[in-house]
Amino acid sequence: MKKIAISVGFLLAVGLMAAPPKLTPELLKKGADSYKATCMACHGATGAGDGEVGKMLKPPPRNFSKDKFKQGSKPADIFKTLTNGVTGTAMAAYPHLPEEERWALAYYVLELKNKH
Ligand code: HEC
Repeated sequence: MKKIAISVGFLLAVGLMAAPPKLTPELLKKGADSYKATCMACHGATGAGDGEVGKMLKPPPRNFSKDKFKQGSKPADIFKTLTNGVTGTAMAAYPHLPEEERWALAYYVLELKNKH
């Protein structure tokens, strides 16, 4: 019985971790600030992949609004991309960023995808 309780608790914890937080204007703002500080040099101000560093990369970062996302374009897919990076490219992993900030970034990337 105790074992079952522990398993249920564990599954619940994993489930909660994987669930995206609610998208609020505050969270999006947090994503925007973090993007400017951490991602813009490569991905560019509008996510077109034309940041100062991004322009020189091979493969270059894709244009978020025009190109298909290779790693998936659901918030959870982007969260995963941020956590693990993309092997063999300049896209590093950002597991050190707090979870909430990774979700905020995922939402902001989608905002760039849909806006331009
Ligand atoms: C040093 C340059 C660099 C930085 C900094 C960087 N990226 Fe990337 N990123 C790349 C490159 C290059 C790719 C393309 C990898 C490929 O070809 O699949 C990429 C891919 C991605 C993808 C995957 C797109 C897809 O096709 O699925 C996402 C999402 C992404 N980056 C978001 C971010 C976010 C958010 C940040 C900031 C926390 C960030 N990146 C920081 C270079 C960078």
